[in-house]
Amino acid sequence: MKSAVFFVAFVAAVAADKIPDFLVPGKCPAVNEKALFEQQIPNHSKYAGVWYEIALTNNPYQLLKQCVRNEYSFAFTAPYVILDTDYENFSCIYSCVEFNYGYYADFAFIFSRSPSLSDQYLRRCEAAFKEIGVDVSRFAKTVQGSNCPYDTQKSL
Ligand SMILES: *[C@@H]1O[C@H](CO)[C@@H](O)[C@H](O)[C@H]1NC(C)=O
Ligand SMILES: *[C@@H]1O[C@H](CO)[C@@H](O)[C@H](O)[C@H]1NC(C)=O
Repeated sequence: MKSAVFFVAFVAAVAADKIPDFLVPGKCPAVNEKALFEQQIPNHSKYAGVWYEIALTNNPYQLLKQCVRNEYSFAFTAPYVILDTDYENFSCIYSCVEFNYGYYADFAFIFSRSPSLSDQYLRRCEAAFKEIGVDVSRFAKTVQGSNCPYDTQKSL
């Protein structure tokens, strides 16, 4: 998804000899990625298709801030982990990278199969993020809806 963009931005920031804002001191939270992945394997094909981004944590290197819609042909693998999903309505995605000198950067996303997401599923994602210690007040809503040019937009 956006890991290549993120990496380029990170290298540029380090080259400028400046610690970028999205790096915070500490370590990534413990997430049992292997167990989640193995448990999700039987359902991987069900993850295919269109997902609308509903909210994400503050990310200065997100290229498209509105109307983000991704299409997957299969469930993607590391460095992203699907914390929770029902495959038909919502998906809660988390990514965390540790860097030298005791810094890490993390990104959390909430996706929906449609341009909106009902509260019950938002709460499922919030619970999943809280469980690993992600502050859910960091989320900002992504603009979606009838003004979005979904037909012509290519996913990144
Ligand atoms: C696969 O997805 C269904 C819902 O679509 C869910 O009930 C089931 O628990 C999932 N199985 C695994 C192994 O995650
Ligand atoms: C997805 O949402 C619809 C509408 O609320 C519901 O009928 C369906 O059971 C949900 N799917 C799952 C796997 O929970």
